[in-house]
Amino acid sequence: MSAAERREELKQVLAQARGCVRCSELAATRKNVVFGAGNANADLMFIGEAPGASEDEQGLPFVGRAGKLLDTLLEEIGLARANVFIANTLKCRPPGNRDPLPVEIENCREYLYRQVELIEPIVICSLGNFSTKLLRGDPTGITRLHGRPEVIVLGRRAVRLYPIFHPAAALYTPRTLETLREDFARIPELLAQGEPEQPVSIDGMLDEVEIEQPGEEQALAVDQLGLF
Ligand code: URA
Repeated sequence: MSAAERREELKQVLAQARGCVRCSELAATRKNVVFGAGNANADLMFIGEAPGASEDEQGLPFVGRAGKLLDTLLEEIGLARANVFIANTLKCRPPGNRDPLPVEIENCREYLYRQVELIEPIVICSLGNFSTKLLRGDPTGITRLHGRPEVIVLGRRAVRLYPIFHPAAALYTPRTLETLREDFARIPELLAQGEPEQPVSIDGMLDEVEIEQPGEEQALAVDQLGLF
């Protein structure tokens, strides 16, 4: 998919998310849907928890204090927001900044997975517990997992997941900030490893099927592959 096609498709997902009312409380209380922002062609994607008050106000992710810290950490490894894509587990602000509810995470999952599928990042940094648990499909917490990259498959895409502490957790705890900084320093090395081996797609399998004179049986086999 070309960069332009990618952007167009992302815009369609954005339009769909803007009209989303799957979580009635969030839809009724939000000022803006915070879809995510950055480079649709980015190799590096960050996934946080949910918009806070400033993000809800401006419709952009990580624009408050945690966002400023994220900017600083990016700068320290030679990157800027324009190089990455930043999104959240939830696209709407939970009232009073309460934790996202499991049903809200489930409702919003499709938008996040579409973003990943379209952006095709090499590395996804999950920031904190919510996105790490969602993407790994496992309740293990960030304290145990931070700084340990692993390859996971999301939809049709294998990515390098790199769980790290949420910048908000580092704002008031110098030790956590130090750890976050150390983990951040390994991001360039992970990016340099390139994309992990991708799962074999049905398209790829079809390319390898040699069809000389498709008889009825072969035609049926191809039809069945087309169902998936
Ligand atoms: N915290 C998040 O998880 N996301 C934001 O966009 C802002 C703060």
